[in-house]
Amino acid sequence: MPTVAVVGAQWGDEGKGKVVDALAAEAEVVVRYQGGNNAGHTVMVGDRTFKLRLIPSGILYPGTLCVIGNGAVVNPLVLLQEIEGLQAQGVDTGGLRVSDRAHVIMPYHEILDRLEEGARGSRAIGTTGLGIGPCYVDKAARLGLRVAELVDPDAFRARLEEILPLKNRMLECLYGHRPLTVEEIMEAYAPAAERLRPLVTDTGALLRQAIAEGRRVLFEGAQGTLLDVDHGTYPYVTSSSASAGGIASGAGVSPRAIEKVLGVVKAYTTRVGGGPFPTELKGEEGDILRREGKEFGTVTGRPRRCGWFDVVATRYAARLNGLTDLAILKLDVLSPFDEVKIAVGYRVDGEVIDRIPARLDLMASAEPVWETLPGWRQDLTGIREWNRLPRAAQQYVRRIEELVEVPVAMVSVGPRRDETIQLRPLF
Ligand code: IMP
Repeated sequence: MPTVAVVGAQWGDEGKGKVVDALAAEAEVVVRYQGGNNAGHTVMVGDRTFKLRLIPSGILYPGTLCVIGNGAVVNPLVLLQEIEGLQAQGVDTGGLRVSDRAHVIMPYHEILDRLEEGARGSRAIGTTGLGIGPCYVDKAARLGLRVAELVDPDAFRARLEEILPLKNRMLECLYGHRPLTVEEIMEAYAPAAERLRPLVTDTGALLRQAIAEGRRVLFEGAQGTLLDVDHGTYPYVTSSSASAGGIASGAGVSPRAIEKVLGVVKAYTTRVGGGPFPTELKGEEGDILRREGKEFGTVTGRPRRCGWFDVVATRYAARLNGLTDLAILKLDVLSPFDEVKIAVGYRVDGEVIDRIPARLDLMASAEPVWETLPGWRQDLTGIREWNRLPRAAQQYVRRIEELVEVPVAMVSVGPRRDETIQLRPLF
């Protein structure tokens, strides 16, 4: 059963796009199973840069079936724009399919996302403002619109007439926002719906069949484990199941269908938006990581918060996801440092712990217990073989492997497709 899942094992932005792109060369099917256009996957091929938000990174390989699964949320305008953008870059998007059960991000979701963030004031989550949370809220509240309805004008209108009065009451009464009309929403979404209709299908059935036929299927996670709505640093999380647990329900496949789970981490840690981040570096070292790692959001352009590698968070992600392999990215970014640190525990209330506390105040007060390792002060970007890495860089990778208790399959030393050292095969 050649199925591999790629999940973020930190707070997102680990570089999953690059890893998925590498694996997609061998995959026959690539699936997004949660999240929406809050994700941003950057893939560099030669001199060309592709920025993907909703479409699986496998789209860059002609002939690959690319699925946006039922667990994802779809903004039809953004999806269409992304399809057209790729086509303009010469990419064949013929392999794309969208689940008929995926929920649609509606204009009022985007509006509510921003208004709710504003109302949170200093406790704002720092969402992407793209309506992701409000869309998942409506899914759980049984007030959602699904793609199957979006692409049928009569069904869309009927459902919207049912739901919109409720959403308008929220907009008007809670936030003093003007009500939206069925007509304006229909008008805004109808052209995109028309264009997307041929792509819409029961993708769960498609995937179950592909798996039964023994095809190589790749599940592409978005965001990261510590942003998972259940297992992340709640409430500073996204609204979907970003860990491997989300695959079965978000793609419509059996939990037994996942053979390998590859966790992706950076050689350090970043986080966008609010919320606890124990290894954050607020001074010059953080600035170096941000500059060397070009740590600015793909979607929002926001500077990312940067810090040293967090073993506690990653080991938690390893156990929760059942990681079989680890990919360590951006090792080259640590080259300017004489010494590098990793957090091997948290000190909370005077006690050293090696787990993620559920209570936000405890997590926010966690102070890292550091282990310091020698740096290597050498440019790594030209290196393609493990044996050619400086000894200190090898030691760093091996120490992480030992502490996280997952074998390292891949080390990345630069953003390009070929700037990768492969240690273990995945498919
Ligand atoms: P939302 O997903 O827009 O609701 O944002 C919730 C939290 O998840 C915020 O802290 C965002 O910055 C974060 N987030 C959402 N998507 C990503 C991503 O792709 N990478 C990193 N952080 C993300």
